[in-house]
Amino acid sequence: MLHRVIYASEAVGATGASTLSIAQILGVSLRNNLRSDLTSCVMFHDGHILQAIEGKRSDVDRLLRALLTDHRHTGVRILVDSLIPERRLVEPMVLCDDPAALLAKLGLHCLSSVTAREAEVLLEFRKAA
Ligand SMILES: Cc1cc2nc3c(=O)[nH]c(=O)nc-3n(C[C@H](O)[C@H](O)[C@H](O)COP(=O)(O)O)c2cc1C
Repeated sequence: MLHRVIYASEAVGATGASTLSIAQILGVSLRNNLRSDLTSCVMFHDGHILQAIEGKRSDVDRLLRALLTDHRHTGVRILVDSLIPERRLVEPMVLCDDPAALLAKLGLHCLSSVTAREAEVLLEFRKAA
């Protein structure tokens, strides 16, 4: 049984704003997600974060517990938590490299008030990119 969780959060300090902070997150995530058979896509935009995670419930929950105590971001809110027939994300960890363009396609300027539906659509665009 596969699950998809999408959450939004707020960056703390330089998280997502510096190449180093992004590289640190991507490096650890790649290693861990490969090991746990999780697939994920993360987006940093203007101090806001959106991440989708797919995998087995126990693996997704273990990562969520780590994310909830990670001081590099705050205000984690779960937008989507659903059982899925198959993955839409295939890579262990992908950085969305042009979040502003993706947001513009949806007519959004900011991730601060993104809805569950919009978050799912952002994922679709990421897949097509
Ligand atoms: C925005 C954000 C996204 C993250 N995504 C992941 C992820 O997909 N996988 C992961 O293992 N850790 C991720 N992390 C890091 C975890 O919160 C945690 O630091 C890490 O899993 C600890 O791994 P370690 O025990 O191997 O050091 C993320 C952190 C942040 C701030």
